[in-house]
Amino acid sequence: RAKRPAGAPAKELARPVTKVGVVGAGLMASQLALLFARRLEVPVVLTDLDRDRLDKGVGYAHGEIDKLLGKGRISADKANRLKALITGSLTKDAFADADFVIEAVFEEMSVKQKVFAELEEHVSAECVLATNTSSLSVTEMASGLRHPERVVGFHFFNPVAVLPLLEIVRGTGTDDATLATAFATGKALKKSCVLVKDAPAFVVNRILLRLMAEIVQTVDEGTPIEVAERAAAPLGLPMPPFVLMGLVGPAIALHVNETLHGAFPDRFPLSAKFAAFVRAGKAGVYRPDFTLDPEAVAIFAGGTS
Ligand code: 3HC
Repeated sequence: RAKRPAGAPAKELARPVTKVGVVGAGLMASQLALLFARRLEVPVVLTDLDRDRLDKGVGYAHGEIDKLLGKGRISADKANRLKALITGSLTKDAFADADFVIEAVFEEMSVKQKVFAELEEHVSAECVLATNTSSLSVTEMASGLRHPERVVGFHFFNPVAVLPLLEIVRGTGTDDATLATAFATGKALKKSCVLVKDAPAFVVNRILLRLMAEIVQTVDEGTPIEVAERAAAPLGLPMPPFVLMGLVGPAIALHVNETLHGAFPDRFPLSAKFAAFVRAGKAGVYRPDFTLDPEAVAIFAGGTS
């Protein structure tokens, strides 16, 4: 018999998940929609505020299904079934019969609290409300809800289809049935689930940001980006640090950095140059052809830290 993951309640407490809602249709949300549809084979509805974003999100998931088909990983039948399972809706009425709704909207506590409060008006009392937040408190997010006991952190890593770990976060109010449902769902998604404390940035991002913040500091202090990247190579990271920053998104990386700086200011310094780089709206320090973006280089080279 497989051992129960540390801290997971008895699996008998888990409730079935027959329909999933995803709030947001950005890159993370659309990767989540694909994963849930592929692994659970249940209807997955994405919502967003505008039609363009929604169509883009659904389009991304459908495009990834075509890639799986092209690689021979799934049959044409399965590809068609999966595409039919993933749909978009501009209203949350579509979540009325969902058992599990996950939000992946903008990383701002008040925005996420508002999303959860609004969701409570649409879903049943047993429906799990999960958050894919990178660093915010799950307990605070659930505060003020009628049913804080069904809120849980469900934190994935980019690229969602490839990285096996899933951090499951128990808030102070999360009940056993919600946690058991989260673990059973994580297992059905074929992820390796760990229960982590509801602490700023949980565990993975706390470790990763220590490294990333230090590398950014060296560049901020004048080390050229290409030198910092070469110096990091012996660490055996799966990809160079600034490439990873582009994959995660500099704005998200800054947000996690800010959360950790607020909680542990001495250990997580904030670089004003990095903040300026994010404010400039850069997608990364590399351009799509993997050459360095001279404007990004100039931001790190100039100004004050
Ligand atoms: N989306 C979907 N699939 C992807 C992908 C993407 N963005 N990037 C790569 N893949 C797939 C490829 O299609 C390929 O699949 P296949 O075997 O079916 O053909 C497989 O992954 C391997 O890809 P490659 O051979 O092209 O390249 P690598 O072997 O170098 O792997 C990588 C690419 C998996 C992205 C690897 O470089 C890696 O693990 N990088 C580190 C990623 C990481 O640390 N992520 C965590 C970030 S922190 C986070 O997300 C938390 C948040 O809160 C900030």
